[in-house]
Amino acid sequence: MQRSLTGIKPSNAPHLGNYLGAIRPALRLAQEYESFLFIADYHALTSLRDAAKMKAYTYDVAATWLACGLDPRTIHLYRQSDVTEVFELAWVLACLIATGQLERGVSYKDALAKGEAPNAGIFTYPVLMAADIILYDADVVPVGKDQLQHVEVARDVALRFNHVFGGEILHVPEAQITEAPLVPGTDGHKMSKSRDNGIPLFAPPKKLRQVVMKIVTGGDPLEARSEARGSTVWELYRLVASESEVRAMEESLRRPDFGWGHAKQVLYEALEAELGPRRAIYDALRADEAELDIVLQEGAERVRPIARETLRRVRGAVGMRA
Ligand code: ADP
Ligand code: TRP
Repeated sequence: MQRSLTGIKPSNAPHLGNYLGAIRPALRLAQEYESFLFIADYHALTSLRDAAKMKAYTYDVAATWLACGLDPRTIHLYRQSDVTEVFELAWVLACLIATGQLERGVSYKDALAKGEAPNAGIFTYPVLMAADIILYDADVVPVGKDQLQHVEVARDVALRFNHVFGGEILHVPEAQITEAPLVPGTDGHKMSKSRDNGIPLFAPPKKLRQVVMKIVTGGDPLEARSEARGSTVWELYRLVASESEVRAMEESLRRPDFGWGHAKQVLYEALEAELGPRRAIYDALRADEAELDIVLQEGAERVRPIARETLRRVRGAVGMRA
């Protein structure tokens, strides 16, 4: 069975962009692939310096995956930091990645562009991410568009390793851009934890409605609604509604008595239909951190032998005791 793998950073509670761009597609893939879904806490450490938040967001992400339908008996769910073998592989890979490739890294360039003084963790972010992927011989990596470059680094270094050390030692992964590669946030830009434009996944219905009503539409409530298509409300709606429902919204928006406020109400109801049933499950799971710890630790125990086997091949190939 082929393997699919993806990670989410516990740098905040997951938002709708994470759900539509990563969680939902990854869970769909899990029907065909052996799936590895992990919490990238060491990646979060590049920007998060608050132990209480790190813990809380880790449980938020774990409970989100489980509430969205992940069955921990068949899908491997684990913390990145529970399988420290990843660092041994990261070092080996770092020795094969040119600094020039890391200098072209999007996260690193972004930090520089914002005038920040990026830490070495941000610079070497793609190295650790390549190790995350290669450690488990992943075939496909479902991610949003923003992560494509990172998966390319993983591909490049696996190919280089095999070329340099001779043979098919490392598996070469492939990115799979998901059906929602760039979910817009309430301000129309990419929904992101670092911008204040997220639609929370499991906030109470009232809060969810409030945020949906904040979506920027650029037109008067009842006038000047030119085209639904391409608007943020439409972009979000088509990810949670059927084709006929989307067409119905387009039609309605051409009517003089149906404005953006109405369209947002329709969007809110569709989101509530998708997320509402999972909210209670999420709340129950999130309330039991000890149980979440058990699930995550069991996941790590299950994947560790795979990590060790990859390292055995790698150590042998580079001339160390395997
Ligand atoms: P953020 O970008 O908000 O910090 P992460 O970097 O933790 O979120 O992203 C976790 C996963 O969710 C990645 O696969 C990423 O591509 C996906 N993702 C994040 N934001 C979006 C978005 N707006 N649209 C589509 N996918 C997204
Ligand atoms: N960098 C990813 C993000 O910010 C999270 C991540 C870490 C990841 N390691 C990964 C995603 C390996 C896919 C595969 O979203």
